[in-house]
Amino acid sequence: MRERKAVDTSLYQQYEQQKSWRSFDRVYKQLGDIKGKRILDLGAGSGFVSRHFSKNGANVTAVDADADLVQNAKLDPGGVNWVCADFGALDFSAEQSLDGIWTSFAIAYVGNPVSWLRRIRQSLSPGGWIAVVEMADLLGHEPLEGADKGAIADFVDDARSSGSYWFDAAHLLDDWIKEAGLSITWSADLNDSELCFDGPASHEVLAAWKWRLSRMPRLQSMTSQGFTERFLDCLANPNHESHSRVRAVLAHLP
Ligand SMILES: C[S@@+](CC[C@H](N)C(=O)[O-])C[C@H]1O[C@@H](n2cnc3c(N)ncnc32)[C@H](O)[C@@H]1O
Repeated sequence: MRERKAVDTSLYQQYEQQKSWRSFDRVYKQLGDIKGKRILDLGAGSGFVSRHFSKNGANVTAVDADADLVQNAKLDPGGVNWVCADFGALDFSAEQSLDGIWTSFAIAYVGNPVSWLRRIRQSLSPGGWIAVVEMADLLGHEPLEGADKGAIADFVDDARSSGSYWFDAAHLLDDWIKEAGLSITWSADLNDSELCFDGPASHEVLAAWKWRLSRMPRLQSMTSQGFTERFLDCLANPNHESHSRVRAVLAHLP
């Protein structure tokens, strides 16, 4: 029991640490003055984005399905209202109650992103916005052996066909948003020093990747022995190159 608590706390801390590697400030700037705005953060993780909005005067509700993460976040909520729920099962039909919806690194988990976006947009007030951040090719790093690249490709296909995760979400995001009937008003590829960097990873980034890989048992089962060490060596290689992409899209009701 004690061991489980330690692991859950680490997940919260890992998500908190990632904040310094993201470039979300570029997106925040596009949102204008959020004072008094009603904002929903879907798949909020540790809640650092929600707390940023709350600190800037917004009325924020953060939703995450991970009960231990939510429990940790509630210890220091920073004015954020936390809800532990599956965001796929929430009722969004209470019309036009929100000024903005934020969702970062969460839409890749949604089986049918277009229908989900259509559902969540119902809760936006006129002029309301949706900001979506997502990545692609998380595991696209060089130099890796051909056998490891093949195993990664099989894992990525498996995740897609089982509907558990879209590893190419950043490439599909603009089309999903347009298909859901939203108008894209700004978009950009974001720098990210954990996910999209060339050259050798820092000690902190390597530690974060080690942790990330340990949270992917299906990947471990589909790769050969020593995969984690070889992948970490690749990230630490002076010639390391990342093919990953982090995309941010801001859209409004037409
Ligand atoms: C990669 S984390 C991103 C956290 C945070 N948004 C960020 O940008 O750092 C994805 C989060 O989405 C949550 N999540 C995934 N599927 C979910 C669902 N169906 N309902 C609610 N939360 C979900 C996970 O528990 C996790 O905390």
